Amino acid sequence: MTTRRKKIYEGKAKILYEGPEPGTLIQYFKDDATAFNAQKKAILEGKGVINNRISEYVMTRLNSIGVQNHFIRRLNLREQLIKEVEIIPLEVVVRNVAAGSLSTRLGLAEGTALPRSIIEFYLKDDKLGDPMVAEEHITAFNWAATQEIDDMMAMALRVNDYLSGMFGAVGITLVDFKIEFGRVYEGDFSRVILADEISPDSCRLWDTATNEKLDKDRFRRDLGNVIESYTEVARRLGIMKEMPTVIQGGVH
Ligand code: TMP
Repeated sequence: MTTRRKKIYEGKAKILYEGPEPGTLIQYFKDDATAFNAQKKAILEGKGVINNRISEYVMTRLNSIGVQNHFIRRLNLREQLIKEVEIIPLEVVVRNVAAGSLSTRLGLAEGTALPRSIIEFYLKDDKLGDPMVAEEHITAFNWAATQEIDDMMAMALRVNDYLSGMFGAVGITLVDFKIEFGRVYEGDFSRVILADEISPDSCRLWDTATNEKLDKDRFRRDLGNVIESYTEVARRLGIMKEMPTVIQGGVH
């Protein structure tokens, strides 16, 4: 691990370091896994390597269809160069099938198809346990402007459409996912772009044929084979060739 660089921020699964030029950062993917607001913790050897690679792949494909995002290029097994953004303190969740907290909140059996895709906002605040918030709260407390909410929702639906097709093509159902956005400034104006990561840590991915979970719920629910499942997602996306040692747990 590189320690020469200045650390800007350390989260639960990633570290941000100062980048090589102004306006850039280095995003480092850790092997740490947490759930239930970090009450449950583990080190999953190789997770950071797989998520770095999957997130690179997803962000690159989204960029190719015009969904602007912070990804610039992957630097090595665990690091990628990204654009520095001002993170909007919201988690944007898109759901296609009932699962997780939606199932609990509304009493819907997991696996129930939703009548249409649903977007939800959660405030990024660990002390409060990331509470769900409405657009009213977001604008009243100035977490984001109305135009930014519209832009985030439009981008979230494009991401959902594209990724549903991308995963669907390899036999994986995109049940739901969480994304984050940030502002980039250009003179007096700012623009919202996709940030953070998109990986099995931040999505629910079910094998379409068997409904087997291939995502972080394997960790949250103690289902076992977490790394094997993440690796299977990478394998189906056709991006396994460059990381053969991960499965043996030999990568640090
Ligand atoms: P939820 O059903 O627990 O609200 O999760 C919805 C989606 O958001 C699911 O794909 C997992 C993802 N998620 C995160 O990425 N980070 C989080 O902290 C939480 C709670 C969920």
